[in-house]
Amino acid sequence: MIFFNVSCGFLTHSLSILKMNTPPPSQNVAPLSDKLFDSHGRQIRDLRLSVTDRCNFRCIYCTEPDVKYLPKSDLLTLDEYVRVVKIALSLGIDKLRITGGEPTLYPQLNQFIEKVGQMGLRDIALTTNGSMLSRELAQRWKDSGLHRVTVSLDTLKPSRKDAITRSHTTLKDVIAAIDTVRDVGLTPVKVNAVILRGVNDDEVSDFARFAQEHEIDMRLIEFMALDARKNWKRDDVVTAAQMKRRIEQEFTLIRDDDTESSTSMNYRFTSGGGRIGFIASVSESFCHGCDRIRMMADGTVRPCLFSDDEWCIRSMLQMGASDENLRTFFQDAAWAKSAGHGMDKTDFVRPKKTMSTIGG
Ligand code: GTP
Ligand code: 5AD
Ligand code: SF4
Repeated sequence: MIFFNVSCGFLTHSLSILKMNTPPPSQNVAPLSDKLFDSHGRQIRDLRLSVTDRCNFRCIYCTEPDVKYLPKSDLLTLDEYVRVVKIALSLGIDKLRITGGEPTLYPQLNQFIEKVGQMGLRDIALTTNGSMLSRELAQRWKDSGLHRVTVSLDTLKPSRKDAITRSHTTLKDVIAAIDTVRDVGLTPVKVNAVILRGVNDDEVSDFARFAQEHEIDMRLIEFMALDARKNWKRDDVVTAAQMKRRIEQEFTLIRDDDTESSTSMNYRFTSGGGRIGFIASVSESFCHGCDRIRMMADGTVRPCLFSDDEWCIRSMLQMGASDENLRTFFQDAAWAKSAGHGMDKTDFVRPKKTMSTIGG
């Protein structure tokens, strides 16, 4: 038996890379298949790849001003990220989301997009806070094969922006970024707002109006227990039902189709373009249809946002593991994916990491 002691960041796990060895994740070995399945019958098709844990914002629901970043020496190289995506593609993953931190801070982002843009993935999306986006850059991404961009925007009030993001970029720039990616054709453009009680919950109807005016998919997200401050309390969550009720006082909504793995419940308006979606992670979990797996910037693979079970692929990449070994690693990790996050249970234990480290 060959065991590799693989460490990523602060976590250390004992990991076998050969199928005959004791499997890493859950004392279970994924059955032989050329696809990625978990032990709950879900096929994994969506890889969320965080290419940096660094961010120029410090959103209050996400990270803290004194955040400690991973040492640069722990981050994967461009070729390693690309290899991981190729392995994922060979296992039936056809959707890639490039996340961070803030992915535009990754120095080799453009080269990465050029490489993955040619692989034939069905859907490649990038999540950004929109603070560093130009028309030239958006056009370059489009030409390189990126399909769409999702922008985070939690307020439409200039005076609130700094308080929420704890940064000094202007709201005008982020809105210009949204219009730019739409005009360049990186569509559908989705805009994410995390709704926090007493902070921006008076803006939900304004966000609906914004969706119409800018012809984008606006998504209102329930606050999840992923904030570095560890301030999350169930009672603070503004539920999707509460947001929808408020919007329906001003707009008539028509339910639109969602895919089985969709995070959001989507609606059109009778009165104009754009869409509004509600991401009810807490009040109406969508874990049953989840097809996502995540890899952090240092190669830590995490099958579920909310489970601290994770395994690092970096040493395997550095030690020259074969494609078959890497596929086995992913299959075993996927097999260990939790059934759900359990935020609705009284014994819920919040994950140790924040969204900015894991990747949105
Ligand atoms: P697309 O359908 O590819 O556009 O992705 P998406 O709807 O997952 O969008 P995005 O990646 O922008 O995620 C939006 C929000 O959904 C995130 O910011 C999280 O709040 C939430 N979310 C995304 N993935 C998960 C997940 O696996 N579990 C939970 N509980 N929430 C998630
Ligand atoms: N709850 C819900 N969503 C979060 N995000 C970050 N932290 C949280 C949280 N605590 C999401 C936001 C942000 C993206 C990068 O991650 O949608 O736009
Ligand atoms: Fe940065 Fe996104 Fe976290 Fe805000 S939510 S601090 S933009 S990673």
